[in-house]
Amino acid sequence: MGFLSRKKPKPAPLEIDEEHPIVEELQRMEEAVPERPAADSRTEEPRPAGPVVEDDSSSSQAAGEESSSTPPVGEAPASSGQAAVQGTDSASVEDTDSSPAEVAEEEPTRLMPRDLIAPSRNDAFEPEASEGEAPAKHAEVIAFANQKGGVAKTTTTLNLAVAFAESGHRVLCVDLDPQGNLTMSQGIDPDKVEKSLYDVLVNDMPIREIIQKREIDIAVASIDLAGAEIAMSTKIGRERSLEKALKEVAGDYDFVCIDTPPSLGLLTINALTAASKVIVPVQCEYLSMRGLVQLQNTLRMIQENLNPDVKIEGILPTMLDSRTVHAKEAVEILEENFGDLVFRSRIKKAIKFAEAPVKGASVLKYDSGSSAANYYRELAKEVLANESS
Ligand SMILES: Nc1ncnc2c1ncn2[C@@H]1O[C@H](COP(=O)(O)OP(=O)(O)O)[C@@H](O)[C@H]1O
Ligand SMILES: [Mg+2]
Repeated sequence: MGFLSRKKPKPAPLEIDEEHPIVEELQRMEEAVPERPAADSRTEEPRPAGPVVEDDSSSSQAAGEESSSTPPVGEAPASSGQAAVQGTDSASVEDTDSSPAEVAEEEPTRLMPRDLIAPSRNDAFEPEASEGEAPAKHAEVIAFANQKGGVAKTTTTLNLAVAFAESGHRVLCVDLDPQGNLTMSQGIDPDKVEKSLYDVLVNDMPIREIIQKREIDIAVASIDLAGAEIAMSTKIGRERSLEKALKEVAGDYDFVCIDTPPSLGLLTINALTAASKVIVPVQCEYLSMRGLVQLQNTLRMIQENLNPDVKIEGILPTMLDSRTVHAKEAVEILEENFGDLVFRSRIKKAIKFAEAPVKGASVLKYDSGSSAANYYRELAKEVLANESS
C-alpha cells in the first residue's frame, strides 16, 4: 500500500533519483553502449525491442513478481513474455503501445533500472558469443605408399613424423601394416597390443582409444590386422573406414602420417582414401618403374572413385649409395620420368636406420646430431615449404 500512495502524487513522466548509486552505475553502463538511446529519452518512448526483450525474461527472475505486476512504460502487461519469445522488431513494440493509457501513466518509475540493465548486459555478452566460433584446423593426412617391401616406407613415416614434431607440429602416426614395424619402432610389441587399428577398422572403435603416446602419437597395429582386409570386405563403406575414424581426431593434429603394407589391397586403399597427399619412397638400388606405374594407376582409380583430392606429394629416393654409378643412374631415370615429382631431398644409406628401430626410437632421437637424422629434417623442410606455397 505504501507502494501505491507513493506513486499517486507523481504522474508520468517518471522521476529518477539520479543520485542513487545504482542508477549512476546503470547510466555509466548505458554510456558504454553508444548505439542505444539516452536514458532520458527512454522515459518517454517505447522501449526498443531486441536484446531488451530477450534479457527481460532472465531479469524477471531477479525482479521477482514486480515483473508481471509492473510492466514497462508503453508495454502491455502480458506483452513482455510474448515479445521475449517472438522477438524484436519495432512493429511488435508499437502494437503493444495500444495498451490503456493509464497503464503507461501508473507505473513509470520502478521499471527504469531494470530497463537499463537488460540491454547493456545483453550487448556485453554478444561479442563473446561470436568469438567462440574459431574455425577448426584440420590435419594434413599423408600416406606413405609403395607396394614394394623394404623401400623405407616405415623408416620414412616415422622419421619424417618426428621431424615434423621437432618443428613444433602435432603429429599422429597410423600403423596400417599388419607387420607392425612402425609400432615396434616406437618400442611397442604388436603381439601384446590389446586394442589396435583392427578394432577401429572392423568394429568402428574410436581411434582415440588405440592411440599411444611416444615420440609422436601412434595408432598402433596388432598382429590381427592381417585379418582386417577379409573382415572388412563385407562391410559397407569398407574403403572409407580409416577416413571416417580420422575425422574424429582431425582437429587434434597438424599431420597424420600413415604407414602402409607392401600391397595395394584394402588397407592401402583405406590409406589413400583418407589421405590428401602420398609420399612414395623408392629404393634406388632396385628401382622398379613398373611398380611405380602400377601405383599411379591405383591412385588414379582412387581419385576417380573415392578421393578426388589425393595427389602424389613426391617420390623420395631412399637408401642412396651415392658412390655407385647405378644409384646415380636410378635417380636420373626417376627424374626423367617424374620430373618435379621427385623430391630434392635424398635419403642416403646409413647403418643408424637399422639400429634405431631396435632401440624403439627414431633416428632423430637415437642420434639426433647425425647426418642420418638431418636427411629427414631436410625432407620435413621441403614438405613444409611445399605446404605453404
Ligand atoms: N637410409 C637407409 N639406410 C640404410 N638402411 C635403411 C635406410 N632406410 C631404411 N633402412 C632399413 O631398410 C629396411 C627396410 O626399411 P623399412 O622402412 O622397413 O621399409 P618398408 O617399410 O618399405 O618395408 C629396414 O631394416 C630399415 O632399417
Ligand atoms: Mg614397412
